Amino acid sequence: MHRLRRAGTCAVAPLLLLVAAAPGAANGPRQDYQLQCQGCHLADGSGSEGADVSPLAGVPDLRGRIGRFASLPQGRAYLVGVPGSAQSPLDDAELAAVLNWMVREFDPVVAERGFPPFDEHEVERLRRPLADVASVRARLLRALAGRAGRDAAAAASARTRPALAAPSAPDAP
Ligand code: HEC
Repeated sequence: MHRLRRAGTCAVAPLLLLVAAAPGAANGPRQDYQLQCQGCHLADGSGSEGADVSPLAGVPDLRGRIGRFASLPQGRAYLVGVPGSAQSPLDDAELAAVLNWMVREFDPVVAERGFPPFDEHEVERLRRPLADVASVRARLLRALAGRAGRDAAAAASARTRPALAAPSAPDAP
């Protein structure tokens, strides 16, 4: 009797572990992130950027960036197409929910401004493995830098215009 009960427990324990680790078992995006993504991207989304002696070298920092990618059409295709997303065991609706959760969690400034959330139809359409992740990412960063540069130039010219119009200071050379 005693021995039987022990055998039963042993058989059930691994099954419980499997159920806990199975994607989509009504986990919600936070738990899906913890189970499927956090091992590499870490709890705070910082990844391993800047850490040169890390077994995770090359996992980009999501903070302050993922929402910016989500604001460009080609950036949305990138977020869905990176291997970690496209090849995850999550279904399209779950992946959409995790990506939305990641934008809110790791890029709150963009999330507060409002971004078009992913849904399962968009994820289904975009879920194609990228041919060359690094070069797509580099192009996106250039597009974002160009956009930030234009914003900064506009802000700077708005700031300097009145100063240029003002008479020069008496001690100016
Ligand atoms: C085995 C490690 C690993 C896991 C697990 C992982 N990723 Fe990643 N992720 C990476 C690496 C490495 C990159 C950099 C691009 C590349 O080389 O794939 C990346 C890049 C990304 C990016 C683009 C970020 C950027 O700034 O370029 C997103 C979005 C992303 N992953 C989402 C996810 C999601 C969602 C999951 C979980 C469902 C996940 N990843 C799981 C390693 C991982």
